[in-house]
Amino acid sequence: MSYKQKLTRKAAFGAGLFCLFLPAAALAGAYLLSAHGSGTIGVERAVMASAGYGRGNCGHCHEMHASLTGDEPAPAGGAASPYALFAGSLDPAVKPYLETSNFCFYCHNSTGSAQQVTNRDYSATFGGGGLATGPQSIIAAFNQASYHNLGDIKTFVNNSSAYLWFSDSSNPCDGCHNPHLAKRNWVSIPANSAISKPSSHFSLWGEASPQLMSSYSYEAPYLTWQSTYVSAYREPDGGSITDGSKTPDYVGFCTDCHSSTNTIWSTTLNRNLRVINWAVGGEKHGGLARDSNPANFREPYDTAASSKSNFVFSCLDCHEPHGSSNIMLLRRRVNGAELSGAISTVNALGPLCSRCHSGGMESIHHLVANAPYPNPVQCTSCHGGQPSSNPVPCGNCHFHGSNDSWLLTKGKTPTYRKTF
Ligand code: HEC
Ligand code: HEC
Ligand code: HEC
Ligand code: HEC
Ligand code: HEC
Ligand code: HEC
Ligand code: HEC
Ligand code: HEC
Repeated sequence: MSYKQKLTRKAAFGAGLFCLFLPAAALAGAYLLSAHGSGTIGVERAVMASAGYGRGNCGHCHEMHASLTGDEPAPAGGAASPYALFAGSLDPAVKPYLETSNFCFYCHNSTGSAQQVTNRDYSATFGGGGLATGPQSIIAAFNQASYHNLGDIKTFVNNSSAYLWFSDSSNPCDGCHNPHLAKRNWVSIPANSAISKPSSHFSLWGEASPQLMSSYSYEAPYLTWQSTYVSAYREPDGGSITDGSKTPDYVGFCTDCHSSTNTIWSTTLNRNLRVINWAVGGEKHGGLARDSNPANFREPYDTAASSKSNFVFSCLDCHEPHGSSNIMLLRRRVNGAELSGAISTVNALGPLCSRCHSGGMESIHHLVANAPYPNPVQCTSCHGGQPSSNPVPCGNCHFHGSNDSWLLTKGKTPTYRKTF
């Protein structure tokens, strides 16, 4: 669609005018395979069901006439909603999110008033945390310490010329999902995808090769912690696939927005985000090979390192897609076990790193062969006090794209090694 057509369409939707019946035929096949369109698990708004609408019917989300036997069916709002949906969205750029903040929360909410749907976070569903742990609905996932800001996502996607299908009235969740296609991803992995790349909104992402992590030099983390190397117990399903052929290509997915060039504003962080460069030569957890520093890895990486000279990680090995009890969407459970403590500042990332790196901080930074700071002097210039009780804040040197040039501000000579 041209940008001009997009503007025309925006104007039509802005007025709340919407004609549903034409594209229904085109949607039909894929829609019936989707979670929403399913006749057994699909959408079912009580008030519409009692009016005779079958499970999965479009009318559970769209209101063709905005009235049913004279009254507007619950939830009733004042004005007609964009796309003739039963409710509009506010998409604020700050939490807490309420049911009224986003159309999807009328159902994807532990107390959804239209239809209650239970969903867990990635750490529980694909990371081995118990199903009773963590948030139990999508709205609960967003209302945690960190979250993908719906207002910012809406602004970013709407203003980008790469996503012409997105209108002023579009739903920010649809930046990552297509409500007419999304499937229940946890019943058949990876064959059922819940996600669509924003640049390819009208198809699902990550159901088959090459849209899988097996396209990279990937090693699936443990779902259940094992202290020795075994092929089994791996994410995302506890099985024996180690090469990522059961995991959607989340690198390709996340970097659709978080590319090495896009400027993305974050209201939460009150700054533009750092760019992410997962390509060859970019970051250590991406396409840049590790250096000769003797790596102290935990399993399964320790053993796998003898056959893989450069591990490339999935973004969801460390991050949640919706929100987290830790800052920066960092998972509460990584590589088979819960983090040893919550992460509330980028200056104390140890509980995350130590799920995969072993050896201890002094060893890693001062003692191992090729350590960055062997034989240190003037301890306080880096540590700011007694080293044992004054760790050097990690956030100065370890973040996407970082090196240790921060040391210049301490009058020290950096190694300029890539540190993330
Ligand atoms: C789970 C709720 C839900 C169901 C069920 C649903 N839709 Fe939608 N539909 C939406 C949302 C949300 C949008 C807004 C898309 C956006 O954000 O741009 C939308 C948008 C549309 C559009 C605008 C073009 C597009 O694809 O974005 C058409 C046409 C449409 N729906 C038709 C249908 C038809 C026909 C059905 C049944 C076969 C259906 N919808 C079922 C939620 C739903
Ligand atoms: C930045 C991209 C992104 C945004 C924005 C986003 N999601 Fe997701 N969502 C994902 C990814 C990736 C997955 C697959 C991983 C998973 O299941 O945890 C997912 C999974 C899901 C699932 C299935 C969860 C499960 O495993 O049971 C639901 C339901 C869902 N999202 C709903 C929503 C709703 C509702 C919104 C808006 C309030 C939203 N998403 C916004 C990326 C996103
Ligand atoms: C009328 C209620 C309703 C609304 C509104 C709704 N959903 Fe759903 N959604 C469901 C139901 C029911 C399922 C299937 C639940 C299941 O798998 O148990 C589902 C499933 C999904 C799935 C597949 C993963 C899963 O849990 O099975 C995704 C992704 C999803 N919804 C995203 C969205 C997004 C994004 C929106 C808003 C644009 C939305 N939903 C709005 C009821 C709804
Ligand atoms: C549709 C575009 C889009 C996609 C796809 C996307 N993001 Fe984002 N992301 C954003 C925007 C916009 C922000 C800035 C708003 C904010 O900070 O929440 C952001 C912020 C973030 C942040 C900082 C959150 C914070 O603490 O404020 C992290 C971490 C992040 N994204 C990770 C991911 C991961 C991992 C994926 C893939 C599952 C992903 N993103 C996919 C748009 C996207
Ligand atoms: C999910 C496992 C995992 C987590 C979590 C993790 N790492 Fe790594 N890290 C690795 C692996 C494996 C490598 C080797 C990458 C390669 O082969 O290119 C690596 C490489 C590195 C390197 C480069 C080492 C070299 O020899 O070049 C640094 C520095 C690093 N990680 C720092 C961190 C920090 C800091 C954290 C916490 C904020 C962290 N990592 C979290 C697994 C992880
Ligand atoms: C060039 C900067 C630099 C200098 C100078 C330096 N350190 Fe460190 N040191 C680090 C970094 C970075 C770490 C890893 C982060 C942390 O745990 O503090 C570290 C870690 C440590 C740790 C582990 C602390 C912990 O939290 O487990 C000890 C002990 C330590 N250093 C002792 C010393 C001593 C003793 C000196 C002086 C002889 C010294 N360091 C000088 C950078 C430095
Ligand atoms: C002054 C900068 C600096 C600070 C501050 C710092 N580090 Fe490092 N760190 C480094 C450098 C340099 C390396 C070596 C990178 C390389 O050679 O690949 C490193 C390596 C690491 C590694 C990877 C070890 C491996 O396997 O090669 C981990 C994990 C790590 N640091 C964790 C931390 C944590 C946790 C903190 C905060 C408590 C921290 N660091 C603070 C500079 C720093
Ligand atoms: C080894 C763990 C790890 C992996 C893998 C990882 N991240 Fe991160 N990410 C972090 C940590 C730790 C932070 C907080 C430090 C920082 O801001 O860079 C972070 C922060 C972010 C931020 C916020 C950046 C900012 O401006 O502060 C974004 C966006 C992000 N990650 C996206 C991604 C994407 C996209 C991928 C996959 C291509 C990815 N991450 C893979 C650990 C990881």
